[in-house]
Amino acid sequence: MKELVGKHIVLGLTGGIACYKTAQLCRLLIQAGATVQVVMTEAATRFITPVTMQALSGRPVFVGQWDARPDNNMAHINLSREADAIVIAPCSADFAARLAQGRADELLSLLCLARPQGLPLLLAPAMNREMWAHPATQRNFAQAAQDGALVLEVGEGAQACGEFGDGRMLEPHELLHDIAASFVPKHLAGQQVLITAGPTFEALDPVRGITNHSSGKMGFAIASAAQAAGAQVTLVAGPVHLPTPRGVRRINVQSAREMLAAVQAEVDQATVFIATAAVADWRPAEFSTQKIKKDGSGQVPSLAFVENPDILATVAQSERAQRGALYCVGFAAESHDLLHNASAKRARKQVPLLVGNIGPATFGQDDNTLLLIDAEGSYALPRASKTELGHALVAEIARRLPTQVAA
Ligand code: CTP
Repeated sequence: MKELVGKHIVLGLTGGIACYKTAQLCRLLIQAGATVQVVMTEAATRFITPVTMQALSGRPVFVGQWDARPDNNMAHINLSREADAIVIAPCSADFAARLAQGRADELLSLLCLARPQGLPLLLAPAMNREMWAHPATQRNFAQAAQDGALVLEVGEGAQACGEFGDGRMLEPHELLHDIAASFVPKHLAGQQVLITAGPTFEALDPVRGITNHSSGKMGFAIASAAQAAGAQVTLVAGPVHLPTPRGVRRINVQSAREMLAAVQAEVDQATVFIATAAVADWRPAEFSTQKIKKDGSGQVPSLAFVENPDILATVAQSERAQRGALYCVGFAAESHDLLHNASAKRARKQVPLLVGNIGPATFGQDDNTLLLIDAEGSYALPRASKTELGHALVAEIARRLPTQVAA
C-alpha cells in the first residue's frame, strides 16, 4: 500500500466505544508507512487513554486547546499544517454536529475549522443505529460533506448497546483501505468498469474438470485500483480464493460459458471492459452427471473437447465497443515471443489495448512485469507488485480513454 508511505495523518478520536478499533488503525497506518499524530477529545479519553495512543503512535497526544507544549501555543494551527489528511475515527454524532456548526471551543473541532483549504478531512461515523438514522445526524454529516469532508460508510452489525443495525464504525483494515484510497487520483471517476479474473473450471463429471493455474491476483488488483480511482467496478471471478476488494461488486462463476453470460448481463452498463481471466479455451464435449468410473479393464476414457466462446472477442466486436462507447482491454498470457504474439492477439481480438505477460512467470506470483501494446507501439511496465501494477495500468487506461468514454 504505497499511498500511505511518508504521509502524516492527524488521527482524531471523539467519544465512542469504537475508540478501541482506532488503536489498531493507528498501528496499521504506521505499518503502512505513515506517521500519526493523535488528537483526542475529552470524551474520547473516557474510552481509551492517551497513554495507549501515545505508545502506539510514538508521539505525545494532544487533548486540550490550551496545551502549552507548542512554542507558539497554537496546536490547532501547527498540527494541521503538517498533515496530509485529518481522519476522525470514531466520529460521534456530537462531533458531526460541531463540524456542521463550525464550532471551535475544543482542540479537535478547532483544528478541523482551521485546516488549510484542500487538506482532506475524513470522517468515520460510529454510533448507535437510532442516533445514526436520526434526521439531525444525517443532516449534520451531509452538511460536513457539503463543506468538504469525506464521510466514510458505516458498518452494519451487532452494536455495543446490544442492538443490531447500521452505525458501527468500519473495521480498522477497511478504514486503512479507505484512507489509502483517498490519496489515489480519481482518474476513472464516472466510469463503470467490468473485469473478468481468475481461471475458469470446465467440469467433466461431478468431481473432475479442467482448469489452469491463474490465481486471479492481477485482475483483483486491477479491480481494487479502479475502485480507488473512482470507478464503479464489477468483477466477474472464476474459482479463486481471494477476498473481494473493498467497494467492488463481485459475481462468481465457474465455467467460460457462465463467465460469458455474466459479462453479457453486465456489459451494457460498462464503459470499460478489462479481460484478465485465463479462460479455458476448451471444455469437455460431454458432461457426465455421474462420476466416470474405472471399469478395471485398464482402458482409459477418451475425452473429446469443444471450443469455448471467446469472451473478449465477443465483447470487442459488439456495436458499443466498435463505436468507441466501450473501451476494451485484453490480456495475453504467453510463454514466449511476447511482443510478437501479443501484437498478433491485439489485432485478432480487435482491442485498442492489449497487456502482455509471460504466463508461467506470473501465475500465482505477487509481482509481475507487463507489456502494453496499443496502436502507437509497445510500452513496458517494469517489475512491481501486482497492486502497484494495477494502479499503473489504471492510469494508463485512463489516459487512453476516448472522449466518448471519458466522463
Ligand atoms: N479470452 C476470453 N475468452 C476466451 C479466451 C481468452 O475472454 N475464451 C481473453 C482473455 O481474458 C485475455 C485474452 O482473451 O484477455 C487473451 O487470452 P489468452 O489465453 O492469452 O489467449 P487465447 O485467445 O486463449 O489464445 P492462445 O491460447 O492461443 O494464446
